[in-house]
Amino acid sequence: YYLRTPCASTLLLAMAASPPPSRFGPPLLPLLLLLVVGYFTVSASAAGELSQVVGRGTESDGPYFEPFNVSYDHRAVRIGGQRRMLVSAGVHYPRATPEMWPSIIAKCKEGGADVIETYVFWNGHEPAKGQYYFEDRFDLVRFVKLVAAEGLFFFLRIGPYACAEWNFGGFPVWLRDIPGIEFRTDNEPYKAEMETFVTKIVDMMKAEKLYSWQGGPIILQQIENEYGNIQSKYGQAGKRYMQWAAQMALGLDTGIPWVMCRQTDAPEQIVGDLTTL
Ligand SMILES: *[C@@H]1O[C@H](CO)[C@@H](O)[C@H](O)[C@H]1NC(C)=O
Repeated sequence: YYLRTPCASTLLLAMAASPPPSRFGPPLLPLLLLLVVGYFTVSASAAGELSQVVGRGTESDGPYFEPFNVSYDHRAVRIGGQRRMLVSAGVHYPRATPEMWPSIIAKCKEGGADVIETYVFWNGHEPAKGQYYFEDRFDLVRFVKLVAAEGLFFFLRIGPYACAEWNFGGFPVWLRDIPGIEFRTDNEPYKAEMETFVTKIVDMMKAEKLYSWQGGPIILQQIENEYGNIQSKYGQAGKRYMQWAAQMALGLDTGIPWVMCRQTDAPEQIVGDLTTL
């Protein structure tokens, strides 16, 4: 039903619209993409330190966990101060219906995921400039809450550029028609629209109390996406844009780490790549 090519910090996601398999029998994981974040340095019992407030699968407005902070060091992401190895499953919410989300999330958990990660698809959320859509398959808040209710963490990859074989990299078509615009570089019209959208998503998550320190599941978030792979093509403007994106994101004061992904020259306060912490 859904297959993702290796991309970003992720390896593979394959989801079958089939009944849940037995835990150990083939076919093994109908739905799992593994992303190793940091390394094992603590025993599994440390993982149990966070207490989940809302029970398994229950749809509610939270809080879902006792509030906790997220940080990182040179080896691993730290959840509530503890180094953790996190397995992350990529689930692109608009590729399924809200009715399907709970069982997809539950399958990820059964497959061993600690985290659900997804891009945020700008062209679905802002189909016309300034007109937002967060209903039905684009009900991002509902999706995050369902993940939380399952006791899993969330990695919000805002971008807003998305890989994932998604039309136009997730950019709204109207964006192209703004006079003088150039995507993903030091270009004022582009940066203004990007900042507006990223801010909108962050504010929405804060208002819904979905960050970890608010008792929510969001432990990590991403700004840009694998820009380091193409930055040199933009020359100095590319470097300036990357630095601007980092500072803009940090300025949103989200209280949890920002990740860039494949950004070896990321500013110090940003994780350039989770897999090489
Ligand atoms: C998280 O960090 C903030 C800022 O340092 C602090 O005020 C808060 O008490 C911390 N929360 C927890 C649960 O440790």
